[in-house]
Amino acid sequence: MSHAPHAAFDAAGQESLYPASNASTYLNSPTLDASYLAGFLTLQSPTVTVGLCVVIALVLGRIFGRRKLPQGVKPLPRLPGLPWAGRFWDVPEQGVDAAFHFGALHKKYGPIYEWKVMGTTHIWLETDKVARDLFVLRQKKYCDRNILPAAMGVKEDCEILPLSGYSDEFKKHKNFIHTLMKDSTPKTFYGWPLVENKRTLRRLLESPERWSEHMITHCARTIGSIAWANPEHGNKLLIVVPDLLKAVSPAGPIINKLTFLRHLPAAISPFKKFEAKRKQLMQDAFYEALQDVKDRVEAGNCEDCWSQLYLAEEKRVPEARKMDWHEAAYAIGSSSFVAIATIGGPLHSFFLAAAHYPEWLPKVQEEIDRVCGDRLPTVEDMPHLPKIRATVKEVLRWRQSTPLGVPHEAMEDDVYEGYFIPKGAMLHANHYLISREADKFPRANEFVPERWIDPSYPSYKEPLTEFPNIRGDMAFGYGSRACPGVELTNMELCTLFGALAWAFNFTSKIPKEDLPWYEVNPYVITMSKPFPMDIQPRSEAKRRFIENECGDAGYVLKTKREGKWDIVHEAGEKEPWTWDGLSVPYEKPAVKRVYPEGA
Ligand code: HEM
Ligand SMILES: *[C@@H]1O[C@H](CO)[C@@H](O)[C@H](O)[C@H]1NC(C)=O
Repeated sequence: MSHAPHAAFDAAGQESLYPASNASTYLNSPTLDASYLAGFLTLQSPTVTVGLCVVIALVLGRIFGRRKLPQGVKPLPRLPGLPWAGRFWDVPEQGVDAAFHFGALHKKYGPIYEWKVMGTTHIWLETDKVARDLFVLRQKKYCDRNILPAAMGVKEDCEILPLSGYSDEFKKHKNFIHTLMKDSTPKTFYGWPLVENKRTLRRLLESPERWSEHMITHCARTIGSIAWANPEHGNKLLIVVPDLLKAVSPAGPIINKLTFLRHLPAAISPFKKFEAKRKQLMQDAFYEALQDVKDRVEAGNCEDCWSQLYLAEEKRVPEARKMDWHEAAYAIGSSSFVAIATIGGPLHSFFLAAAHYPEWLPKVQEEIDRVCGDRLPTVEDMPHLPKIRATVKEVLRWRQSTPLGVPHEAMEDDVYEGYFIPKGAMLHANHYLISREADKFPRANEFVPERWIDPSYPSYKEPLTEFPNIRGDMAFGYGSRACPGVELTNMELCTLFGALAWAFNFTSKIPKEDLPWYEVNPYVITMSKPFPMDIQPRSEAKRRFIENECGDAGYVLKTKREGKWDIVHEAGEKEPWTWDGLSVPYEKPAVKRVYPEGA
């Protein structure tokens, strides 16, 4: 077993990577250390950028003219732009705005069209049918991922599963994750989500104004327990996620827009320096967590978790499927950090739905009271709780965590309905738009959980003991790259939504017209922005239950740094913790925002 020594941790480095000033908005807290960027800031100036791009475009446009297509094959409808540089001024900054923007162009350009920028062909899939035709029916051709300029080497290294290129190595990793999921699903993920549900109720009772923090730390603690039998390892994920998420988002470092900057040599590239640090920190996190499980297993006191399963099975796995220490550490770690922002999305949207649609929650509470009485819901109750499942299903539809999914890259040239799709094109399924297809989802922009349990809606399906459920839901993507985390998401969301509705009333503290509607963070995984909510236990008995039965509240934030993975929140109670800009509270804009039609 290759077992690299843990690199010495550089506390100062951590400070510069994660400045404590997380109350500042994401817009003026660039991911990269400003000093690295000195020479590149001019590139942020629109005039310089435009000038530079026009020159590059003209040169490259001469070198790579438009290629000849085979007979009878036509180019896709394309947004107009310069040769090579394409329509670079039209790169939408924010994840959800890109979904709105390209969703609106669908009317003019049809269900599939292309958009070039910086030499890359981006293809937009705007209906469920087109996405399925390509990503599912022709999945072998569309299962690669693209190179991410800021997240260097991530495609090739095959360490971070969701972003890895397609290869034998990738298949081995994905099988490994499927096996861990398959083994732990029937065991309800070793009961960890239910343990954390109770702690989360306790935190909400003690400090309801911090509900957004409690949702995020809930996700981190739960996956920390499932992966490494210790919720505190979730801290490591909370530390490594924001930088990676920014690195893979167009709203992140400038190199994601001016992609040719990736060719700068390491010695002078601020991006490469930053990436090296980011990677080291991530490796420390994954290695240390796995080592901790190994130590506890050897001491004979480790509870069930994925890492323990890996260590126990390791010797019996046939050679071809064997994962060494490094591979397993990354496969477990990188399938865990995706469980925080993704599940955090619907958890935040639950509060948004409760504020905008106050008539729904009492209906859910009636169902829970009838089925569960004076105890919290469990997985066994779910067949009898269709309204809870409808809430989960509808929240996922109404506010997609990944409004543009995760791009798939074409592995070979292809022709679809007479249109040419070149090898290397990046294809984006517009999950936001697809979740609003008019024939399937009347009143699509509204939160209507009834659509899943009332036969008069087209999305209704029987039997209600089984439907609605989120298996195969488009929110989890398509084909061979689809999300392996559906069962875990299902268990976490159903039981936590159930526990929340069982325990509390949620009432908005601000008038409806001042509430956020579709305000989310700017990255590729989005979360609704938090706002003030009144959270009251539904009865004295419920308050006592939480005080007596829900034990340690499991707070994560510390006021001062003791351990190297501590998350320090200096501002204490006054300023909310925003997870490095991923959950900045909503502020009412001076001018009321106009949303695109259908949003
Ligand atoms: C609300 C919750 C979640 C949503 C909406 C979601 C969504 C997605 C989407 C859209 C993809 C890309 C699919 C594609 O390429 O077509 C994906 C991939 C992935 N998800 Fe999730 N996910 C969620 C939760 C989770 C959880 C809880 C885990 C693990 C514990 C997880 C692990 C992964 C992994 C490992 C991949 C990469 C698969 C691959 O590239 O082959 N996800 N997810
Ligand atoms: C909770 O909300 C319901 C209506 O939805 C109301 O009848 C009840 O009095 C509320 N309970 C508390 C303790 O606020």
